[in-house]
Amino acid sequence: MAGAMVPLNRSLDVDIRLWPQDVRGSRAWAQALVKAGVLEDDEGVTLLEGLERVATRLSDRDHAEEPDEDIHSLVERLLHEEVGDVAGKLHTGRSRNDQVATDLRLWGIQMTEALGVALTEVEAALLDWARESVDLILPGYTHLQQGQPVRAAHWVLSHFWPLERDRTALHTVKAQASVLPLGSGAIAGCPFPIDREFLREELGFLSISENSIDAVSDRDWALGLAFVAARLGIHLSRLAEDLVLFGSKEFGFVRLSDGFSTGSSLMPQKRNPDVAELVRGKSGRLTGNLVALLTVLKGLPTGYNRDLQEDKAALFDSVDTLTLVLPAIEGAVRGAEFQPDRIEAALDPQLLATDLADYLVRAGVPFRRAHEVVATVVRVAEDRGIPVDQLPLEAFQKAHTAFGSDVLEVFDWERSVEAREAPGGTARKAVLAQITAAEGCL
Ligand code: ARG
Repeated sequence: MAGAMVPLNRSLDVDIRLWPQDVRGSRAWAQALVKAGVLEDDEGVTLLEGLERVATRLSDRDHAEEPDEDIHSLVERLLHEEVGDVAGKLHTGRSRNDQVATDLRLWGIQMTEALGVALTEVEAALLDWARESVDLILPGYTHLQQGQPVRAAHWVLSHFWPLERDRTALHTVKAQASVLPLGSGAIAGCPFPIDREFLREELGFLSISENSIDAVSDRDWALGLAFVAARLGIHLSRLAEDLVLFGSKEFGFVRLSDGFSTGSSLMPQKRNPDVAELVRGKSGRLTGNLVALLTVLKGLPTGYNRDLQEDKAALFDSVDTLTLVLPAIEGAVRGAEFQPDRIEAALDPQLLATDLADYLVRAGVPFRRAHEVVATVVRVAEDRGIPVDQLPLEAFQKAHTAFGSDVLEVFDWERSVEAREAPGGTARKAVLAQITAAEGCL
């Protein structure tokens, strides 16, 4: 092979991590070959014992620097070193095309499970934080402008549900990965009487592929995993951004624990929210990996094409990134603390403008008219340079006669949130029901 071709061709440094799956698949294949009468019983035993020793050697130290092209050729060479020429019989009826597709799916099934567990921990941390913050009321933002007051727990749980959808999506990806390609050969299927049902059972897949041409080139489950990883990254980046904002001097709503903040090498006063910034930044590569994989797949002719070798670097990076990110964001959430004084100081009575309009609506004023009236009231307060709840009653009544002396009762945070009792709202009852629903998911 040409000198310049060797390093381009080689994928061992990337696919070395698939060795446990490659050995496992090979063991199942050796047994299937015996069952099909292709191998003698004693040859099968020799191969199985040899593969066992190969696994021991591979687990003993890192083999990424070996000269072999990929994990499949490395395992086969080591097997030859262990058992001699009979090793050459293992690849009967099998191709690296169905082999690598099988290995990667086995890995994917394992990883969706592991990511699901790590994600559950993040969700549990959010849920604990929500349970502790039902009483606290903070400004709810739209357009990053104060909108309406909400319970802090309601804001916390607004970050729970997106993650819960991602966890459900991971389950779906796991099921999509659980279709066995082994037995498809290079493209046309296997010419020996291989029991694919046995292989499925042995390797723990849910079903077997229906079309050998499709089986060796289908990476839809991998795309699914890259997509869920990217979307999860987006969700985490939004949580991270809220933590960055709420942790700033200007907001001061949340304080991150020391273990997840860092100082500046120059400015001694700094407490930087690095954990949140890194999580936000990592979402870029998760999105990039999805785009890379989509682009690799676009326009490929049917069957296996070597382009597909590029699937692994993207997918491994997404899983590695989340493996770093999930425990860190969990820790950051667990250590985060609301700063009630700062939150209370930030609550602007204008947050209750909608409640003022609702007051008029209850007095029979059409909502559109009530909206106009309250806009006028707010403007009057601004012109006078006082908070809207400090306006005298006459100012309200000048704007609309439906304002009674009880209008000042509207300026009560608790009363405002408690009015939103419909399911999914921010009243205590609704938030407690939401917490119960979230608990039911984990
Ligand atoms: N290293 C290859 C991959 O990752 C294995 C399959 C190679 N197949 C082939 N026909 N060259 O996709």
